[in-house]
Amino acid sequence: MRILRGKDYGEMSLLAARIMAAKILSNPSCVLGLATGSTPIGLYDKLVKWNEEGILDFSKVTTVNLDEYKGLTPDNDQSYRYFMNTHLFDRVNIRKDHTFVPDGTEKDEEKACADYNRILEEVGPADIQLLGIGRNGHIGFNEPGDAFIPLTHSVQLTESTIEANSRFFATLEEVPKKAYTMGMKTILNAKTVLIVASGKDKAQAVHDAFEGPVTPACPASVLQLHSDVVLAADEDALSLM
Ligand code: F6R
Repeated sequence: MRILRGKDYGEMSLLAARIMAAKILSNPSCVLGLATGSTPIGLYDKLVKWNEEGILDFSKVTTVNLDEYKGLTPDNDQSYRYFMNTHLFDRVNIRKDHTFVPDGTEKDEEKACADYNRILEEVGPADIQLLGIGRNGHIGFNEPGDAFIPLTHSVQLTESTIEANSRFFATLEEVPKKAYTMGMKTILNAKTVLIVASGKDKAQAVHDAFEGPVTPACPASVLQLHSDVVLAADEDALSLM
């Protein structure tokens, strides 16, 4: 694993954005695995800026997102499709029909997961998979559990994740309790994994993921098994490493 240490969130975002940009420049038809959440926003802003400046071209890029809340429509401002549109897709010259997010409106969980697995299969492994990390070590919505689940599946979100996500909703009751997420085999199939972390509240998870045992109790620890992982983090998130 390679660690890119930024002194703060801004510097971490720049270091991480450079890694993504290099992938796009070296292969304009690349497949980007993308994440939502607060942490990648600074990185996306940098990619948008470089696109506006004519340095980065997204016209041939394909993207696959990690996850989506079950029950939220794309126009719901808390859905991950909405997040991706507003933070990246609507701001760069990407073809929308080349961007994929699990279908949160599909009520049939088996179908939603099978459909997304088919898309992932067709698109092929990501050239780079961007990940954030939850305070409990989750990646995508692969929550701590007894096993690493290989493919797209529906998950019951843990109390800790619901509580962390509640900052974006008016009440705790409004936070969706289920989500569809890419599985661990798909994440590990990415050629490069770029994981971003910022803030003291991520320090324990970052430590457990990379210095603790490989265990589904800390889902991000599976990344110790990948041969090309870049951790871009700020001083606070690295404070226990
Ligand atoms: C988002 C996702 C989640 C987040 C994680 C960290 O698509 O898959 O695993 O990456 O919850 O979220 P933030 O960055 O908001 O702390």
